[in-house]
Amino acid sequence: MPQATFHFPPGFMWGSSTAAHQVEGNNTNNNWYSWENIPGHIKQDQKAGLACDWWGGRWKEDLDRAAEYGQNAHRLSIEWSRIQPAPDRWDEDALEFYRRIGRGMVERGLTPMVTLHHFTDPLWLVEQGGWENDDTPLKFAAFVRRVVEALKEYASLWVTINEPNVYTFSGYVLHDFPPGKTDLEASFRVTRNLLRGHAAGYRAVHEVQNSAQVGYAHHHRPFLPLQGWSPLDRLIAAMVNQVFNFSFPLALSTGTLNFIYKRARLPELLHTQDFFGLNYYTVDQIGFALSPADRYIQHHVPKELEQSESGMIANDPQEFFSTLHWVNKQGLPIIVTENGIDDASDTVRPRYLVEHIHQVWRALNFNWPVKGYFHWTLVDNFEWERGWTQRFGLWGLDPATQVRTRRASAEIYAEICRTNSISSAMVERLAPQLIPKLFPG
Ligand code: FCB
Repeated sequence: MPQATFHFPPGFMWGSSTAAHQVEGNNTNNNWYSWENIPGHIKQDQKAGLACDWWGGRWKEDLDRAAEYGQNAHRLSIEWSRIQPAPDRWDEDALEFYRRIGRGMVERGLTPMVTLHHFTDPLWLVEQGGWENDDTPLKFAAFVRRVVEALKEYASLWVTINEPNVYTFSGYVLHDFPPGKTDLEASFRVTRNLLRGHAAGYRAVHEVQNSAQVGYAHHHRPFLPLQGWSPLDRLIAAMVNQVFNFSFPLALSTGTLNFIYKRARLPELLHTQDFFGLNYYTVDQIGFALSPADRYIQHHVPKELEQSESGMIANDPQEFFSTLHWVNKQGLPIIVTENGIDDASDTVRPRYLVEHIHQVWRALNFNWPVKGYFHWTLVDNFEWERGWTQRFGLWGLDPATQVRTRRASAEIYAEICRTNSISSAMVERLAPQLIPKLFPG
């Protein structure tokens, strides 16, 4: 077997990603809390509950694990409803809590990356129309200013908004996120306001912290036509790609939001990205279906590919590479802000992890400026409308006892992080099935 080592550049960021509502527990003042409490919204009517009990202090042990297992960065999010529990009230204790985590990350050698909006909205904001309200971007910017003031001592890497396309499509088209609407007009308005919110947030961060690096986290899920020969499937795939994958990033680079049936000029969006944050999980196939209930569209991950337990994610590293290729054309430094797979038994994850990181290495060989990789996620958490039915953690979690169990993938990832490389010796030892693919010859 050939011996080889694929090296990453010095200073490459290796981390994992988390989000406030998914790990903190007892977040009772946001739209997800009220959504979870209505039966039928979450699989098996599960709730976030105590989540991973980070608010109770277990962030310390989890970040200890991250650092001990070689990670040098961590992405977390700030819960807006804790910082601003009412329109006219700021909670200094909550800000202090996040300052403690910020300090805790730095003490552990983890570079903090801070997300300012990760799906949840304060209840008071929802009462005012949430992101349908044209005043929300300015309110968001005021919140951002407070957070950056409080955390600037520790953090200089900021994500304004996580997956605005998922937020909009799940909440305003597919109705599986709050507010559970199917309303194309509202989805356009929400997208426009999320774009304005990103731009206002970008400027707010820079006003407070000159040296900041600010981006957003874009979910890119390539949609391929179910049947390549079918013009209808090709048309559907092209339309969904345009609206879901391209409308947000292209609005930022061109100043025009294009939803095919509707456009808006937003010149204030230009020059509001210091890096491109990419969340990539899977490829998808999409096409026509003779089913009004499904709005004449069917989609699923390609059946011929290795799949995650829930069938939501396919192991397709090649499409990850193609996505990185497209992202590189945006001309910005790239950070992989999320990538991972639901796999409680940790059967596919070792391969998924190594093969996707291998594509990052390939991208670096073309001099595409990838600066870091953040795995989703550190410890099993509350997965939105899928509740606790999906397990994405490098560590498993029993939410009832809060006991964590290390998965083999945690060790594989640790070896990559510690050595800043993928070596044939490591792959031989920890994921031997990949040897012919990664080290042929
Ligand atoms: C992404 C979300 C993240 C997590 C993963 C599995 O869409 O950003 O919070 O739920 O999916």
